[in-house]
Amino acid sequence: MPPIIHQAISQCSPSLAIMKYWGKAHTANNTPATPSIAVTLKSLMTETRVFVLDGIDAQDMVVLGGVLQTTERYASFFAALRSLCGPSKVFWAESANNFPTAAGLASSSSGFAALVHGACAALGIIKDSKAITEAMSQVARVGSASAARSLYGGFTLLDRQAYHATELHPANHWPELRVIVVRIHDGPKEISSRKAMEQTRITSPFYQAWVDDALQLVPQAQEALANKNLPRLGELARKSYLRMFSTMFAADPPIIYWQAQSLTVMKLCTTLRQLGIEAWETMDAGPQVKIFCLAQQTNAILQALATQLPDCPCLVDEVGDGPCVTTVPRLLASVHPVLANAAKTYGVVLG
Ligand code: DP6
Repeated sequence: MPPIIHQAISQCSPSLAIMKYWGKAHTANNTPATPSIAVTLKSLMTETRVFVLDGIDAQDMVVLGGVLQTTERYASFFAALRSLCGPSKVFWAESANNFPTAAGLASSSSGFAALVHGACAALGIIKDSKAITEAMSQVARVGSASAARSLYGGFTLLDRQAYHATELHPANHWPELRVIVVRIHDGPKEISSRKAMEQTRITSPFYQAWVDDALQLVPQAQEALANKNLPRLGELARKSYLRMFSTMFAADPPIIYWQAQSLTVMKLCTTLRQLGIEAWETMDAGPQVKIFCLAQQTNAILQALATQLPDCPCLVDEVGDGPCVTTVPRLLASVHPVLANAAKTYGVVLG
């Protein structure tokens, strides 16, 4: 019997943590040790074309930014995806980002979420159902815990030890909120967040204090978010990222993602706040800085950034929706030669 092929293209935005996940409760199943609260962005986007094949004895394949990836990083994720989509399924995917990959801009969150979403869309198992979204979030978590949050739009919570994320508020909860992404350096990070958080968990003397503290802070952040209280939420977000990094600095060997310009942005935000401009910065596993602010104060912040860091490009984003399926790709052209050649080898026709 000829193989059966289903396909879909999914677009998904990264989940930027306001309160950070850093450290695993269970390494094997990739559940988080700390609860995290995040916002799904709007303009930053991953686009993923997924082919789901049945009746073929082939390897899963992922082409990211035009490069075929090694499958090791994806093995447990694809196993989880097969448990959702069917044990005989094989997945071939190609993915592109409209922002730098693996540079601390949460590309793994949108990447794994788009993969699971695209696969389910191809098979027609996406219904507007809470149970399906939770199941997709659960599979995405195996790939990257932050990806569990990217299956939802608006504001999300991934609780400690949780298997899937939940939506706290839809995107229209806070339409005035803006996120300024300051690109300090586009190169890939020296150490993956997965490796870095394990190194932190195992070697940092401050790790347990970080986890205990996060459990105290996150409910307060949830309340500030519900009330759209930016000064309060910003203060808590700042504690979250600075305490996360403090545990990393104390790891052995230490983990340092910051660059000099990252610190310049942090200090600039402090100065702006003293002037009455609510600019609250955060950072992830990379040197880029993201600033939470309100629409009406965005220009003042951009002007200050342009004066101090004229060489760092800035992008203003807002709160976005969850993933969607498209028939009009914006980032992917025709099927990548790696996948097209594999199709020839197996005698299957893609598309
Ligand atoms: C700093 O979700 O990339 O962005 O689960 O090991 O793949 P793995 O880690 P990942 O880590 C994200 C860390 C963070 C904070 C966050 O997004 O909550």
